[in-house]
Amino acid sequence: MTNELRPIPSDFAAKALIDDAGYLKMYAQSVDNPETFWGEQGKRLDWMKPYTRVKNTSFEYPDVSIKWYEDGELNVSANCIDRHLATRGDQVAIIWEGDDPSSDKKITYKELHEHVCRLANVYKELGVEKGDRVILYMPMIPEAAYAMLACARIGAVHSIVFGGFSADALADRVTGSQAKLLVTTDEGLRGGRSVPLKANCDKALAKVAHDVKMVVVQHTGGDIAMREGLDFWYHEQTQKVSADCQPEAMNAEDPLFILYTSGSTGMPKGVVHTTGGYLVYASMTHEYVFDHQDGDIYWCTADVGWVTGHSYIVYGPLANGATTLMFEGVPTYPSPSRFWDVCEKHKVTVFYTAPTAIRALMGAGEEHVKGADLSSLRLLGSVGEPINPEAWKWYDEVVGEGRCPIVDTWWQTETGGILITPIPGATETKPGSATRPFFGVQPVILDTEGVVQTSVEAEGVLCIKDSWPGQMRTVYGDHERFVSTYFETFKGYYFTGDGCRRDADGYYWITGRVDDVINVSGHRMGTAEVESALVAHEKVSEAAVVGFPHDIKGQGIYAYVTLMEGEEPSEELRKELVTWVRKEIGPIASPDLIQWAPGLPKTRSGKIMRRILRKIAENDYDALGDTSTLADPSVVADLIEHRANA
Ligand code: WTA
Repeated sequence: MTNELRPIPSDFAAKALIDDAGYLKMYAQSVDNPETFWGEQGKRLDWMKPYTRVKNTSFEYPDVSIKWYEDGELNVSANCIDRHLATRGDQVAIIWEGDDPSSDKKITYKELHEHVCRLANVYKELGVEKGDRVILYMPMIPEAAYAMLACARIGAVHSIVFGGFSADALADRVTGSQAKLLVTTDEGLRGGRSVPLKANCDKALAKVAHDVKMVVVQHTGGDIAMREGLDFWYHEQTQKVSADCQPEAMNAEDPLFILYTSGSTGMPKGVVHTTGGYLVYASMTHEYVFDHQDGDIYWCTADVGWVTGHSYIVYGPLANGATTLMFEGVPTYPSPSRFWDVCEKHKVTVFYTAPTAIRALMGAGEEHVKGADLSSLRLLGSVGEPINPEAWKWYDEVVGEGRCPIVDTWWQTETGGILITPIPGATETKPGSATRPFFGVQPVILDTEGVVQTSVEAEGVLCIKDSWPGQMRTVYGDHERFVSTYFETFKGYYFTGDGCRRDADGYYWITGRVDDVINVSGHRMGTAEVESALVAHEKVSEAAVVGFPHDIKGQGIYAYVTLMEGEEPSEELRKELVTWVRKEIGPIASPDLIQWAPGLPKTRSGKIMRRILRKIAENDYDALGDTSTLADPSVVADLIEHRANA
């Protein structure tokens, strides 16, 4: 890894919000006196009832408790819309770019207000009340943002299920959250192909025990079934209600949304984010990390089904009165120049995407970038997985033309917002490093025994020492799981699950997960989830899933499968299992490689030794380590001999 410091491009530095001296001063204040610092920052929002208490947090196991601005009251949708109306009513809030390059739309803050109020009134008419859960299963269309903000307006808690998840995965989340209402569209559209969202909802609800109503947005006009008295057309209902809806006063610690995410064990957990601290943090990080200034056209290419879409397409930018671009399609449709054509078309100034997209577009060739006029761009961002220095340099030179700083932002669904990142006018960068902590964030590196590494240069697991306002508060319905997952292993710290190195300049380099979570194209996947999908198939007796290095996706999914007695491996069965996993979870969980394993390496107590499976999947046989504790060491030689290849 390279250690060279990249200076801040001087044109950028001249106009940036904050320089290095400013960063260092603010950072010191933020950790020396968090009460005062975050008390001031809380004022970036409009409060219906001002807070008097700023921070009340403890990471002490087992009495973990996190509260910010706990006696304040506010409404997130009022902060993202109403308070901008006087000054920005006619400014574009959302630019929508459809999957089809000829379809786009601009929505002003005034229009956003009306759409959100109407939908909020529809929710009320359908019986949704403060605290109720609403599931959104939406493509990337403006109605997805309206649906989120309308929940926030009436105090309902949204839980977005990524449109790429299967009906089965959707059913689990509808049941898990006991949602009253589902918001969806007839179909989604991605890369010219339609996605049967409403039909998936119908399949999902067939597996759900309680009654769930649906609001359906007409998007493609595709043929779908509507249930009498339970399914309602968005365009009909929104016309029947008033265009005004008073925002509900919410306590700062009332939940804003639940987002299911994968962990190292068991099924996905519902990460709960609350109202006040989350919005302060989303707004502040969006402003400082993206150097947000009036006139910016800001584009984050994530999907609202992931946390990046929540914090950096919708809540952060809209809280700041920004113009945010929502893109329905994929980077390679109709051609690999699509991202760059969209940048030119809408004069995008700030662009935020994932390394997997950068690598794929890099592979497609420079000519696709060179054909577009990218002179409007001034800042580039990366998120979701470590960015390899080659991709970083290509992004810098070919896309940014050497003129745009790159912010490599490290964070997680759990953290609500960015924790480690360059501040573009302040931080000299290094390709592949997320660099330094954001305000209020105190990273700590521990060895596996839990000893804090005090030297500047260190390597180990990454923990965070004290709370920040955007932090998740609990796992929905299972506070104990929250406490044990994040605070039990390393007492007194928030455990991130990531490995990390700190270099001589104090810069942080995220090295990837240290647990059984893998990161496929920037999507988080628990190996346990894929395993449980595989063993649910009648011909599978056992499965072990690990990640392996993949050129484009970052990590691919490698599955070792042991079949039931009497079942024979075949190409047909391999395909059947891939289809099966897609149905159980969704296409993002499709195994890339399946190896038939007559036996798995287990300890005498029956525990699968994943370390060995990981090494075989990585083609790294010299580092297998001690295999003498295995119940049957000979399985290893067999697995190596039959390693699956792409
Ligand atoms: C990984 C996405 C290296 C990391 C916002 C983390 C990264 C997980 C980076 C969270 C980055 C995210 N550099 N690794 N800049 N950003 N990660 O919850 O392993 O979908 O723990 O949140 O992605 O993924 P999640």
